[in-house]
Amino acid sequence: MHGGERLQGEVMVPTAKNAVLPMLAAAILPEGEVTLCRCPAIRDVDAMVDILTTLGCSVAWEGEDIRIRNQGLSHWEMPDALSHQIRSSIFLLGPILAKMRRATVSYPGGCEIGLRPIDLHLKGLRALGVRIMDEGGRLYCDGRNMHAGDVYFDYPSVGATENVMMASAMLKGTTVIHNAAREPEIVDLQGFINAMGGCVIGAGTQVIEVRGVEALHGTSYTPIPDRIAAGTLLCAGAMTGGSITLENASFYDLLPVTEKLKEMGCRVWGEGEKVMLDAPQRLRSFSQLQTQPHPGFPTDMQSPMMAAACVAEGTSVVIENVFENRFGQVADLCRMGADIRVNGRMAVIQGVKEMHGARVRARDLRGGAALVLAGLAAQGDTLIDQIALIDRGYPHLEETISALGGRMERVQVHEHEQTEVHDVTAAAP
Ligand code: EPZ
Repeated sequence: MHGGERLQGEVMVPTAKNAVLPMLAAAILPEGEVTLCRCPAIRDVDAMVDILTTLGCSVAWEGEDIRIRNQGLSHWEMPDALSHQIRSSIFLLGPILAKMRRATVSYPGGCEIGLRPIDLHLKGLRALGVRIMDEGGRLYCDGRNMHAGDVYFDYPSVGATENVMMASAMLKGTTVIHNAAREPEIVDLQGFINAMGGCVIGAGTQVIEVRGVEALHGTSYTPIPDRIAAGTLLCAGAMTGGSITLENASFYDLLPVTEKLKEMGCRVWGEGEKVMLDAPQRLRSFSQLQTQPHPGFPTDMQSPMMAAACVAEGTSVVIENVFENRFGQVADLCRMGADIRVNGRMAVIQGVKEMHGARVRARDLRGGAALVLAGLAAQGDTLIDQIALIDRGYPHLEETISALGGRMERVQVHEHEQTEVHDVTAAAP
């Protein structure tokens, strides 16, 4: 990609990856067909579609929509390879138990940003009467005595909250989730379950009540906009002195990000389903950014905001409280001229006037997005390896960036020194 262009124009924000993934899992719950509208064409969604198909569901893309028929659901064993292919397979545990009362999955394992334990998922399901035996990394779950119950999370885990919401949707009685996650995607999952005839209330607060119903029915549903994709695009505009308009964006869901961008000198405002940003010639640093569970600053926006801080005037401090290894992009940003010091969960960024292009490597999804942002702001050309990691969460990124006047394209790279061919679109590690 070639940096230095001022981004301007209007682009559409995709629907939220982190809303679509749990909804694909929940789509096995009802009697009847589910259509999820305007799904993002990203690798994580494709992986989830593969898993549902392997379990016996009939899943098909129809344009931008995904249609799921679960009548063929016949397996409760999640294949090992698929459990490892995508962490979100753990979201299927609750729905499979709700539907079949049995489930076998492997520990999804860690990823680039952390160990990603699932103890809270298992604690929540055990509170609903699920017996879980762990044998060599395979979890054998027996839900024949499942019942509604009280679940308390000592950390408001997004995935664990979603798993219990789905597991309890058809359990006789009322399940109460205490210290539930409050992310907008949780509220959207409540809306989806209720659109299928469920009775969930309280999502978005710390206490969610799931009143079990006999059965759920099919529905057609459009998930919320992707606030992380939207925030990433706002950062692209902010870092290039640009002026951009996002369509299909929720200003309210973006508040933590828009407040930070205003602190950096941007004008940001919303009108209906649009969010607009006008950037200053040069950003000011933000004093401190701490990632927290919602409604705190979203951890998924930490890397893109770090990239913005790299070119801002002044010193910014980033503290990553949610995941233990989410500074993977720092070394590559420094290769591009950034001045960042890391000490444990804190990174101190001394803004520089100019970054320069370099050959760098995406280490994780959001860290890779930060490198794209830095490449847009840097002078010269940047080559990003492992771009498949970015494809996990950003659909058609180069088309979106190009529509705003940025110069970004996929290239096949041939190393001169007789090493393997680095395909910029190489598969995830
Ligand atoms: C979801 O992951 C998102 N993924 C993540 O987005 C997001 O960063 C995260 O929520 C926080 O908002 C999807 O929705 C598919 P958590 P999840 O359970 O559910 C610890 C992206 O880039 N924890 O709230 O895994 C965990 O280790 C991805 O789009 C336990 O200790 O997040 C972490 O430190 C990355 N035990 C913290 O809680 C558990 O059983 C937050 O995890 C579960 C989690």
